Amino acid sequence: MTKPKALATRPLFSQARAILEQYCEVEYWMEPQRIPRTELLERARDKDALVCLLTERVDQELLDAAPRLRIAATVSVGYDNIDVAACTRRRVIATNTPGVLDETTADFAWTLLMAIARRLVEGDSWTRSGTWPGWDLDQLLGADVHGKTLGIVGLGRIGRAVARRARGFDMRVLYFDPLRLSPEIESELRVEFVPLDDLLRQSDFVTLHVPLTPDTRHLISTGAFRKMKPTAYLINTTRGPVVDEAALADALEERRIAGAALDVYEREPEVHPALILRKDVILAPHLGSASIETRTRMAVMAATNVAALVEGRRPANALNPEALGL
Ligand code: GLV
Repeated sequence: MTKPKALATRPLFSQARAILEQYCEVEYWMEPQRIPRTELLERARDKDALVCLLTERVDQELLDAAPRLRIAATVSVGYDNIDVAACTRRRVIATNTPGVLDETTADFAWTLLMAIARRLVEGDSWTRSGTWPGWDLDQLLGADVHGKTLGIVGLGRIGRAVARRARGFDMRVLYFDPLRLSPEIESELRVEFVPLDDLLRQSDFVTLHVPLTPDTRHLISTGAFRKMKPTAYLINTTRGPVVDEAALADALEERRIAGAALDVYEREPEVHPALILRKDVILAPHLGSASIETRTRMAVMAATNVAALVEGRRPANALNPEALGL
């Protein structure tokens, strides 16, 4: 019996390849640059399965170009790159990779928080430049993290992992989420629910962990920056469009907030030019889940979702199981 055909838009990792190749005849995009859209549409034409990245759009155009497609498995937890409703109409299962990257992404949010508060990137540049004159009393003074108030916007899996880290720093933790947790979970996590406006007004650090949806696009814009403390920092490791970058640049220029540490951007890989010039901003290249262990787990999860479908089972991470009536 011939195996179903799969396209993987990256060579993935050997553990994931081994799973995928057991179930599918796999074509990999091997070039160092990302797969161009025209190539994706062309190569998807005769494929039953697609393993893709968050940088590839799975939309009506792609579904029309790939009439045999049965599954689109993105190697990411965020799935704003997939038009799930269009997939469901075409009876294509869409899957993502939740759960395996929470701790790694929380580690990175914490890295950014510490680095912006303590001006690590500025300090690194100074030390390398050869112009640092040696220790002095008032050099690159930052802000303490311990004992401060942390505001977590979106208390899902990653937001909760961030909340746990804050305990070790004796922080007061506020959260806002459209779904309020039970009092038991709130007290276990030692977090307090507040409306978003209160969170913005009271927090010394605001960290974003909501998915990108029509409701969260530009959630943090001019109005939000007006409410934040002039000493507060913004950390964004979710999706760029949750923050209005032009409004952020203005807020920094007007010193409405003290700084921002970003891992994601509105139009990746472009960054708002006004942010590039600023020392009170850290710009990371979308590294939230980028540890070898976690990226391997994510690729294996995507491959396992494809394997399940080929075997006639419901993929564990199906976003639209109703697509197959499974
Ligand atoms: C990364 O941004 C992801 O969604 O997994």
